[in-house]
Amino acid sequence: MATTWMPDSWRDLPIEQQPVYKNSEDLNDVEAELRRYPPLVFAGEARKLRAALADVGEGKAFLLQGGDCAESFAEYSADNIRDTFRVLMQMAVVMTYAGASPVVKVGRMAGQFAKPRSAGTETIDGVELPSYRGDMVNGMAFEAAEREPDPKRLLQVYSQSAATLNLLRAFAQGGYADLHRVHGWNMGFVAGTDTGEKYQELADRIADSLEFMAACGVTPDAVPEMRQTEFYTSHEALLLGYEQAMTRIDSTSGDWYDTSAHMLWIGDRTRQLDSAHIEYMRGICNPIGIKAGPTMDPDDLVRLCELLNPRNEAGRLTVISRMGANNVHENLPQLIRAIEKAGQKVVWSCDPMHGNTVKADTGYKTRPFNSILTEVRQFFEVHEGEGTWAGGVHFEMTGQDVTECIGGAQAITEHTLADRYHTHCDPRLNASQSLELAFLIADTLRKRRVHSPLAVAAEAF
Ligand code: PEP
Ligand code: CO
Repeated sequence: MATTWMPDSWRDLPIEQQPVYKNSEDLNDVEAELRRYPPLVFAGEARKLRAALADVGEGKAFLLQGGDCAESFAEYSADNIRDTFRVLMQMAVVMTYAGASPVVKVGRMAGQFAKPRSAGTETIDGVELPSYRGDMVNGMAFEAAEREPDPKRLLQVYSQSAATLNLLRAFAQGGYADLHRVHGWNMGFVAGTDTGEKYQELADRIADSLEFMAACGVTPDAVPEMRQTEFYTSHEALLLGYEQAMTRIDSTSGDWYDTSAHMLWIGDRTRQLDSAHIEYMRGICNPIGIKAGPTMDPDDLVRLCELLNPRNEAGRLTVISRMGANNVHENLPQLIRAIEKAGQKVVWSCDPMHGNTVKADTGYKTRPFNSILTEVRQFFEVHEGEGTWAGGVHFEMTGQDVTECIGGAQAITEHTLADRYHTHCDPRLNASQSLELAFLIADTLRKRRVHSPLAVAAEAF
């Protein structure tokens, strides 16, 4: 590992999961152009997220991170952005109420375009082509021209991310996130589906609380917090050339920030201790996520934390475990114990998606809703057992009515997957599955709250 960090000090180190471009000069030109473009996010915003995540680490808030597995050029529309934002808001309201604590909202949006793949090439009927690595790299269609990595795609990612972020900022600050409106949508969900009815009681209680607050003068007109929210963006920092080009010195602090998103995470396939990815990430001051799958060694996790957060600052690191349902009890406690023993401050979050991907008989990659729920439940159980704070969840989801994960209220089956299977990579929860999950997690959050000091005091009273 280089001792002096620079935005390009990763370039001499071993690196995984990078595309091979035919013409490196074209790539250099594109990266030079990106360096001239304005930042997409500001350092002060990333610091604000870091402070919010520090609260999550201390058990005072909960993290909700979600969005596409892979954003795409084809599915880019204002409606899609709006619908994903809306579902995240709906989930957040339910969780805020149930947990009686703030929910930190982070989208897998406005930059999540590059994918790690299990193999560098794909062979169909004897034809071998480079694997699809996300719209940031190449096209999905199995044709030689499409699969050729094209650096110009980086510019399209920048512009799509900028426009997406612009819309997200408008939604978050311009009244679309108004609590009354968001809860109105939740009431619609509850009334509109058979399964939704199970959540009627909770939804009614939220509605009552809003009415009570309104009666006390706490209305969206009077209190800006009721109609605005903070919404952050995140993606996997996979293509380091792009991330480097977006890395700037913050004039206030003199520190380096990756201005392509508020939060960046390190994928489960690119977290080797001496790798280029770790070298790059250690120098930027954004909040960082570390994906931890079943092969994560506890000592390696501690070492990673030391490298990435040498001053052990709260809110800097979020460990996102993705073990797969039924592996959580076996794999997670040892990670938690190692981190606790080392005294490392981290936020613990659960990605119940990536360890639960299966292939349906019909050939589609899917994820059973029940496995997703099981992994989340086990995550909470393990943390309760270890006396640590289950801080958040990380979902692949969309606001669209897709049929990619089986189960849930609409009882999507292996045979109906084909109806609306639109993902560019992994199967996502659709709008109703996402909301159902939020209501189910709300149950757990509510039970956990029963032990909080305020609840215990109320009980005594
Ligand atoms: C992802 O989050 O899309 C992903 C590829 O996850 P992981 O690195 O955990 O496999
Ligand atoms: Co994915």
